[in-house]
Amino acid sequence: MADGSKPVKVLGICGSLRRGSYNRMLLRVAQEVLPPAMTLETFDIAPIPLYNEDVRQAGFPKPVEEFRSKIAAADALLFVTPEYNYSIPGVLKNAIDWASRPPGQPFEGKPAAVMGASMGTGGTVRSQYHLRQSLVYLDVHFLNRPEIFVAQAHTKFDEHGKLKDETALGLVKDLMAALAAWARRLRGD
Ligand code: FNR
Repeated sequence: MADGSKPVKVLGICGSLRRGSYNRMLLRVAQEVLPPAMTLETFDIAPIPLYNEDVRQAGFPKPVEEFRSKIAAADALLFVTPEYNYSIPGVLKNAIDWASRPPGQPFEGKPAAVMGASMGTGGTVRSQYHLRQSLVYLDVHFLNRPEIFVAQAHTKFDEHGKLKDETALGLVKDLMAALAAWARRLRGD
């Protein structure tokens, strides 16, 4: 559809499990600034067990099956992740590792975007590049711009999880619009 009205279904994945996560807040912000004809559903990776090849050979655990089918059904992925020791959190890498295993792998050809919030001054810049690298072989097509690094996150959200930084808010809106256009372009709309 050339008018861009065919919906783009995005699956949002947060790399932090904690209740008060700034990254979860950032994911909620994305939900509030979606362009027309885009939906954003989130997937909670907390129930995904630690990767074990013996377990996989006996069959994917239920949360992994669910994660794989949600990824497969999505038109695009949105990762919102903290930085742990200059990389992505182990829980996120673990979830990706599970989803990537045969038979088949649901990441193949998916458009994706990433953003992140950290309490440090880098705002997850290093972890975002690690995430992009991990997903190269899985053939995920990341959007290059805009890049969103919410640094010193503890000063950027109010007590209701609202993003106080107007520049960052504008960038989140731009990111979601760019992801919609990117997904449509790859889909050949
Ligand atoms: C951190 N944090 C952190 N911050 C950063 O900017 N660079 C880093 O390398 C790290 N490393 C790191 C390791 C571990 C194990 C933890 C728990 C934390 C701090 C991090 O930015 C902060 O905890 C954020 O609040 C985490 O994101 P959520 O949980 O608020 O989404």
